[in-house]
Amino acid sequence: MTATQAPVLAKGLTPSAIVRYLDQYVVGQDDAKRTLAVAVYAHYRKLENARADAIELAKSNILLIGSTGTGKTLLCQTLSRVLDVPFVTADAVSLAQTEYVNEEIEALLRRLIERADGDVARAQHGIIFIDEVDKLKAVSGGSRSASGEAVQNALLKIMEGAPVQLKNHQYIDTSNILFICGGAFVGIENILVRTHAFGFISSSDDDSQKILDRLNARVKPTDLFEFGLIPEFAGRLPIVARMQDLSRDMLVRIMTEPKNSVYKQFRQILADEGVELVIEDPVFEQIADLAIEYKIGARSLRGIFEEMITPVLYAVPDDKGIRRVVVTSLFEEATLERGAA
Ligand SMILES: Nc1ncnc2c1ncn2[C@@H]1O[C@H](COP(=O)(O)OP(=O)(O)O)[C@@H](O)[C@H]1O
Ligand SMILES: [Mg+2]
Repeated sequence: MTATQAPVLAKGLTPSAIVRYLDQYVVGQDDAKRTLAVAVYAHYRKLENARADAIELAKSNILLIGSTGTGKTLLCQTLSRVLDVPFVTADAVSLAQTEYVNEEIEALLRRLIERADGDVARAQHGIIFIDEVDKLKAVSGGSRSASGEAVQNALLKIMEGAPVQLKNHQYIDTSNILFICGGAFVGIENILVRTHAFGFISSSDDDSQKILDRLNARVKPTDLFEFGLIPEFAGRLPIVARMQDLSRDMLVRIMTEPKNSVYKQFRQILADEGVELVIEDPVFEQIADLAIEYKIGARSLRGIFEEMITPVLYAVPDDKGIRRVVVTSLFEEATLERGAA
């Protein structure tokens, strides 16, 4: 392989191919997947085609709005995998909790280079995901921390693109790094309802109504000011993707469908012991109901699942006769079936 000057989108990696890959790991979130796929495709095509004589296309960083545990990090991570670019995540609030924001940001860039195995050129085409940008307003900036606004200004600089000198005197240019900012933006619906601009156009046909609805659901930079985002920062995030809250059905699918779903993982673990694991459908629904109560999206699924399966993992290695484990309820012990060895 030659030195990574232009990152090359694998042949055939169109937006729809990207979405098909994402579908293997991320349940639902079709709108966000499409928006992201189109945006990253455009971003990397632009880098490939960069020529001195071409019109300069502005970089479009992305804002990903969605509640905790709906798959924002997972989506970005999976995206970086299909694109085969280095990826790091940071948390805006913890960036603000230090005295030295710029050093934290530098550390972030260093981590990106590490993910690129030390290849700075490759790191310069990576993806940085910064979560919780909606919480920056609350950060006031005591003596031991930066203010939310200071963090935005620091981030703005690297999002716009700047050469940054690292401690080891290496330079990294952030111009072509794709930034995805995440946040829950609780209450943004109410702001949208208040500020939507296209309510008065009366329209009889369904298609125009759909277009109107879409325009009205669009998040405008001004809607973000109320969350304390400064105009320059909001202006740097022209593409907005929305994650949906996870329904019970989606939670069930998350446990069972993705390539590396928790169910598939534990079936594999037990298969390695020569045991078949069978979890009946109602159990996944019980777990989903519990997860909905916990209000952290899909984040609690794995914990609940592991707690349920731990007694099985404890008993199985001692009993070579077990061939099959059947779970019929979250609230009842699993049946351990023995068979002829
Ligand atoms: N849409 C989804 N599809 C598949 N798994 C999901 C989805 N949303 C969340 N998860 C699961 O929940 C965990 C937490 O999700 P994460 O991406 O960290 O959420 P967020 O960043 O939105 O808070 C992930 O590791 C994944 O196992
Ligand atoms: Mg996250």
